[in-house]
Amino acid sequence: MITALSHVSIAVPDLEAAARQLNDKYGLSVGARMVNAEQGVRLAYVEFGSGKIELMEPSRPDSPIAKFLERNPKGGIHHFCLGVDDVEKAAHAFAQNGVRVLGARKSQRNVAGEPIAFLHPGDFLGALVELEEQKG
Ligand code: CO
Repeated sequence: MITALSHVSIAVPDLEAAARQLNDKYGLSVGARMVNAEQGVRLAYVEFGSGKIELMEPSRPDSPIAKFLERNPKGGIHHFCLGVDDVEKAAHAFAQNGVRVLGARKSQRNVAGEPIAFLHPGDFLGALVELEEQKG
């Protein structure tokens, strides 16, 4: 059911400063800046063949990422993301196993328009997990 490790996501207070730092220190290039209005984030990816690093900054004051940054002002790892064939089916199957699926009542989408869901950290070894639908 889980088929891939899609990305690791880091919340940052300043996306441009973060991108500059990764480029200057590690030679990493951060791709196009995008906004996911639904999730309240401005984001960009460092893409590798096997996975991605996601950088997110809040796009509005009431963003969930703004709340995370209040607790972690310098930023930090926010979640990691697993690819699944079908988010709804996977979320349902995990829920049957007692996993708390966050915001399950409304369907959520990532910036590419793919269905996503989040799993409660308490049900995955303390880590917030995003599920992302990956076709093929
Ligand atoms: Co993500």
